Amino acid sequence: MARARKLFIVLVTVFMVAAAFSVLWAAEKNGSLNLDGLREITIDQGYTKDAAKCVECHAKKTPGIVESWKSGRMSHAAVSCIDCHSVKKSSPMAGQCEGIKGSKIFISPMVSPKTCARCHPAEVEQFSKSGHARLAGVPVLEKDKFQKLMYHLEGGVFAGNDKDAPSVSTVRAAGCQSCHGGEVQLGPDNRPINNTWPGGIGERYPDGGIGNCTVCHTRHNFDLKEARKPEACASCHLGPDHPDIEIYLSSKHGQQFLAHGDEWKWDSAPGVWEPGDYTAPTCATCHMSGIGDLNTTHNINERLKWDLVHPRSVVRSGERGNGEKGDKLMRQVCSNCHAKTHTDVQRSNLDNAVDLYNFYFDKATAMKNDLKSKNLLKDDPWSDGFQELNYYLWHHTGRRARQGTAMFGADYTQWHGFFQIFQVYKDMEDIYDYRIKNNKIEELSTVMNSGPE
Ligand code: HEC
Ligand code: HEC
Ligand code: HEC
Ligand code: HEC
Ligand code: HEC
Ligand code: HEC
Ligand code: HEC
Ligand code: HEC
Repeated sequence: MARARKLFIVLVTVFMVAAAFSVLWAAEKNGSLNLDGLREITIDQGYTKDAAKCVECHAKKTPGIVESWKSGRMSHAAVSCIDCHSVKKSSPMAGQCEGIKGSKIFISPMVSPKTCARCHPAEVEQFSKSGHARLAGVPVLEKDKFQKLMYHLEGGVFAGNDKDAPSVSTVRAAGCQSCHGGEVQLGPDNRPINNTWPGGIGERYPDGGIGNCTVCHTRHNFDLKEARKPEACASCHLGPDHPDIEIYLSSKHGQQFLAHGDEWKWDSAPGVWEPGDYTAPTCATCHMSGIGDLNTTHNINERLKWDLVHPRSVVRSGERGNGEKGDKLMRQVCSNCHAKTHTDVQRSNLDNAVDLYNFYFDKATAMKNDLKSKNLLKDDPWSDGFQELNYYLWHHTGRRARQGTAMFGADYTQWHGFFQIFQVYKDMEDIYDYRIKNNKIEELSTVMNSGPE
């Protein structure tokens, strides 16, 4: 399979170079193209004349972009500025930079996965089915409660900030949207406005494309090696609510990466990056890369059993994946380096941690429902100690405990996880008992303001 894919890429490359040649050959025969001075580039890399112009001028105007592009593999396969940035005149994103004003070429600074799909259809299709695509934009764009959180609360409208002030959208633009993605809004010149571009992993484009491949394959060298390293995920998967990089680096696997990563072979061809090239897995190895009989996937949901991100953990189904199948695939990853006995222990540890977490969560939910039925919850959850604690229970401590166990970061299972879960739970119990006993809500919120780390 891996070999077939390599062959496919070689064939695509050959085809593209051949296509460029035949265009040039036909143009030369018709006498419509002056190839003087271009032959060298053409013979080496197969550029068209228009393509060469972009590179030549941008080498002066934006040298950083051209240098980065030159160092990537796609430049050596004759994929250049024009292949990714040119759009039809009729495209909603069509515009012209000052170098091509008045010509028949139209371009856009925005490049959606629809463009990549012309040459990488499989990767884009897998990616589209994952939580990294449409689902990632849902909180920023589709859920009322998050609109209220981003603008009314975090944007300070509740405290008197002018609801039309540009600063109200700071959190959406520079916070949530940088990781999750938002939706591009266009101005009169078809350029993005209102800080809606560039965006995070689930960015939605005017051409209907969803996703931002550059969060892991930084432009303009679109490096495979980089995406295999844990740093590719770390800019988003960190912090008090999903400390995946912290968990990883403190796990035995992360210890191996830190001690020996600089000796590992990172540049093996797609699909044939195997144990031996590395001694322990990175995020990509377990969640994405081909290993043994498993193929590379851009659907990060494929190898997951549990949903460890939402308030109550359930086995994945529907648009979140297929948990039973995910369990088998993840075990298959481990089986390349561990025996079944070892893997069984880890997988049942995770199942048990989910059970323990759900046990606390269900009891907390029962208290909450009881308070609600007795009219003992405030309408505003953010000035109600019980409800704030409930949030930290699942969103911070509860995720740390679950994800810490899933990826063997004992400190997150224990001290940042279950140790704090029981304390948060006890405080909730105290507030619950007080309210039930006195049939009223206590005067002041008793809760920490940032949540336990
Ligand atoms: C393989 C596809 C690809 C190629 C080849 C490519 N780009 Fe890009 N470029 C992108 C993507 C993807 C983005 C990010 C767009 C987004 O976030 O919507 C981008 C963004 C940009 C931007 C806007 C962002 C910024 O930092 O200002 C410029 C300008 C740009 N590219 C110029 C170029 C030039 C010049 C070349 C040729 C040397 C080139 N690109 C080659 C895919 C490509
Ligand atoms: C004669 C010089 C020249 C040529 C030729 C040229 N460009 Fe540009 N391009 C520029 C300049 C100058 C800018 C503005 C850079 C800035 O905003 O600082 C620009 C901007 C861009 C941008 C960013 C637009 C935006 O709104 O941010 C993209 C994408 C781009 N060019 C792609 C191309 C492509 C693709 C080609 C070839 C079809 C091309 N350019 C040919 C000079 C040129
Ligand atoms: C016109 C066709 C074409 C387009 C469009 C295109 N690619 Fe590529 N891409 C290729 C080819 C061909 C290769 C193989 C290069 C090689 O291995 O020599 C490649 C290789 C890659 C690689 C592997 C690089 C490495 O280090 O081995 C990545 C990652 C990649 N492309 C991402 C993208 C992304 C993201 C986009 C859209 C922004 C995109 N490509 C658009 C043709 C294309
Ligand atoms: C630093 C990057 C980052 C920022 C900033 C960020 N998130 Fe997230 N968010 C993530 C990651 C990564 C996950 C996935 C964690 C997991 O799967 O365990 C996530 C998960 C979520 C989820 C659960 C998945 C879902 O779609 O139901 C919601 C809801 C969410 N974030 C909302 C928000 C909102 C709203 C904001 C801004 C107020 C925000 N996030 C800011 C990175 C971020
Ligand atoms: C979450 C990070 C991430 C995102 C987002 C991402 N990739 Fe990748 N990509 C990877 C990793 C990791 C690999 C290396 C897999 C391996 O080890 O072979 C890879 C490999 C590739 C390759 C090389 C061929 C292959 O299948 O191994 C191509 C082409 C590619 N990606 C294209 C894309 C495109 C197009 C997008 C956007 C739709 C994209 N990637 C988004 C992480 C990512
Ligand atoms: C630019 C930010 C960003 C980067 C980089 C990133 N992710 Fe994510 N990831 C997210 C967001 C946001 C979510 C939550 C999506 C949602 O709302 O459902 C997420 C969710 C996930 C999920 C859970 C999917 C689900 O549906 O619950 C996994 C697993 C994951 N990412 C793995 C990775 C890995 C592995 C890498 C690196 C190879 C990576 N991510 C890189 C932002 C990112
Ligand atoms: C040894 C393999 C392995 C490594 C390395 C690894 N993970 Fe995981 N990851 C797992 C397992 C196993 C789970 C739980 C899967 C399940 O539910 O069965 C998981 C769960 C997750 C989740 C939670 C998904 C959800 O339910 O919301 C995210 C997010 C995630 N990993 C991201 C990362 C990131 C980012 C890295 C690197 C910093 C990483 N992982 C490293 C194996 C790994
Ligand atoms: C590329 C090989 C590789 C893969 C794949 C891999 N591991 Fe590991 N793992 C290692 C190495 C090497 C160690 C360190 C062994 C030692 O302590 O001497 C390790 C250690 C561990 C440890 C720490 C306990 C111990 O044995 O020292 C756990 C737990 C673990 N792995 C679980 C898993 C699980 C579960 C999976 C699959 C989700 C997995 N690993 C996938 C190579 C791997």
